[in-house]
Amino acid sequence: MCGIFAYLNYNVPRERRFILELLFNGLRRLEYRGYDSSGISIDSDDGPVETSSTRGSRPSSSSPLSFSDRKGRSNRSFDPSIKADSTDLNLEASFSVHAGIAHTRWATHGVPSPRNSHPQSSGAGNEFLVVHNGIITNYEVLKETLIRHGFNFESDTDTEVIPKLAKFVFDKAKAEEGEQTVTFSQVVIEVMRHLEGAYALIFKSPHYPNELVACKRGSPLLLGVKELTKDTNSGMSFHDLKFPTMNGQPKELFFSSDANALVEHTKRVLVIEDDEVVHLKDGSISILKFDYDKAKNCGDLPRLSSVQRALSDLEMEVEQIKKGNYEHFMQKEIHEQPESLRTTMRGRLICGDSSKAKSVLLGGLKDHLRTIRRSRRIVFIGCGTSYNAALAARPFLEELSGVPVTMELASDLLDRQGPIYREDTAVFVSQSGETADTLLALQYATENGALCVGITNTVGSAIARSTHCGVHINAGCEIGVASTKAYTSQIVVMAMMALAIGDDTTSSQARREGVIDGLFDLPNKVREALRLDNEMKDLAKLLMDEQSLLMFGRGYNYATALEGALKVKEVALMHSEGILAGEMKHGPLALVDETLPIIVIATHDTCFSKQQSVIQQLHARKGRLIVMCSKGAAQLVCPSGSCRVIEVPQVEDCLQPVINIVPLQLLAYHLTVLRGYNVDQPRNLAKSVTTQ
Ligand code: AGP
Ligand code: GLU
Repeated sequence: MCGIFAYLNYNVPRERRFILELLFNGLRRLEYRGYDSSGISIDSDDGPVETSSTRGSRPSSSSPLSFSDRKGRSNRSFDPSIKADSTDLNLEASFSVHAGIAHTRWATHGVPSPRNSHPQSSGAGNEFLVVHNGIITNYEVLKETLIRHGFNFESDTDTEVIPKLAKFVFDKAKAEEGEQTVTFSQVVIEVMRHLEGAYALIFKSPHYPNELVACKRGSPLLLGVKELTKDTNSGMSFHDLKFPTMNGQPKELFFSSDANALVEHTKRVLVIEDDEVVHLKDGSISILKFDYDKAKNCGDLPRLSSVQRALSDLEMEVEQIKKGNYEHFMQKEIHEQPESLRTTMRGRLICGDSSKAKSVLLGGLKDHLRTIRRSRRIVFIGCGTSYNAALAARPFLEELSGVPVTMELASDLLDRQGPIYREDTAVFVSQSGETADTLLALQYATENGALCVGITNTVGSAIARSTHCGVHINAGCEIGVASTKAYTSQIVVMAMMALAIGDDTTSSQARREGVIDGLFDLPNKVREALRLDNEMKDLAKLLMDEQSLLMFGRGYNYATALEGALKVKEVALMHSEGILAGEMKHGPLALVDETLPIIVIATHDTCFSKQQSVIQQLHARKGRLIVMCSKGAAQLVCPSGSCRVIEVPQVEDCLQPVINIVPLQLLAYHLTVLRGYNVDQPRNLAKSVTTQ
């Protein structure tokens, strides 16, 4: 949800047009996370700022330049071109050093409007400008105090207290100790000391020209480093970068909420940790760690320590953030699944030979398998699609582990404060690794002493960092808000996890080897399922004007029904329910008539005969049926030939949900396009749901 982006060029001459377009582009890359308004701040038009400008010599920050205050109802996205006549700014002005900040907002306090958009300002003169992701929970108290000190508030945001507090801190320090005694990072640290809640922040100030300070607690933030010398990507440690200005080494530095906006500039990144303060000044990067608890408890000056961190390499390609030949990211991501699944399994399946059985190696779990096997319960915890993926994997994990597996929607677990014990293994499933409900459930399970396992798609995400162990699904970056390729990779990872946990049992060896063979072949079968694209488009044409669509599934494919319906409702904005077929006669049967379309998932597994019976009962009520069955089984599921049949490739029963969801993803995609809705950014939804 929402995003922040900043760009600082050091000893690299850049025209203002270039800087603006780079900032716009950064925001465009973050757009998929969800936003309702946006804004940027760059230096003012009174001439280029000198590389060696003295602190406070001349205001170098303009008013926040709001270029797209409110996201329209249309599918409008950022206009990439800057028109010289749209602003008084001289777009050709060149800056050898410059710091710009940008923001996409997902309003939490105050409606989306120009005055509520970020950067938020300290007041006249924009002495401090701040972009913020997150929520400041104690903003009311801070606001009252600041008003008492003469500050006037102009927005309805919680964020506005931050730049005002910065000015208050700065003015106080100046009055006590004189000009130029307090550094920018000291101001920010003092501000942080008073903030409660979740945030990622970037500060800019004319008192500290060409410097930026960023900090975070809770919300994600990355630093990207691009050294413009032969040494680029040479594997320098962060220490080497600490004083690079000694040789005036030109460089470009970036802050971003996620890697998508960085990868086209650099792959050298640092995932900033909670309570770290990153100060960019004179081409150098310094990191201070802020001890929040000590500072809070003692009421003393915050305790700070300088930290050295190594940059890491992004395992991501620029192509991943582009649509390529596809119309939409969701379409691209659906069609990418054979490849994303292959990447998920790469290096993790062991072929075996005459001396060694086929097996699975999950590096992030191997040291914890014994503890997991001995746990009293395995609890899957997640939201939305991630929950559905866990539900799809549950029967196989139960079968192989012999441990009871229970399911928890993260928000419900928190609402109930449901029991989680020391003897439990709690598995947190999340594509983004940043979902607020899942994160809070993780904190709760950690406090209760459970072993916490993370399954995420985002290296360095909060869930990846806060769990005891885990597996990255390596599905590649997913931009469409509707999760597709992450879903299938999550199921595969959890199936591999079941195989690893069950690896000590000889009685299930043949079963395990069968599933491993199935995994090897799964990408090919998914490719085969993708050939249903045109068929699903035709079905979408038939269904596009319907009000509602039901999906019945059971066993391994109860999850498929839930997930298929979730896809249809979230992108095609059509009412759709996934229903456990075993529950049909306990209520949903009342809905059945000749008009309501119903998809029944009846591929071949141990529940097949029960699904045949469901189909017969629906027929008897003249239900309008669309049946998904295994290739060649049309006669078995619909002997009368009166229902529409979707034939899918047959795989191992526990892997069948990976195949069965593909036509439903395609159906949801085509329904959305035909109904004229935004495929990649559905109404009211965000990719990372970082607020509760
Ligand atoms: C997926 O299509 C949905 N947009 C949504 O349900 C999502 O799966 C949910 O918000 C959980 O997100 P996460 O996997 O990033 O934790
Ligand atoms: N809470 C802030 C606001 O409403 C920031 C929201 C965001 O993360 O974009 O302005």
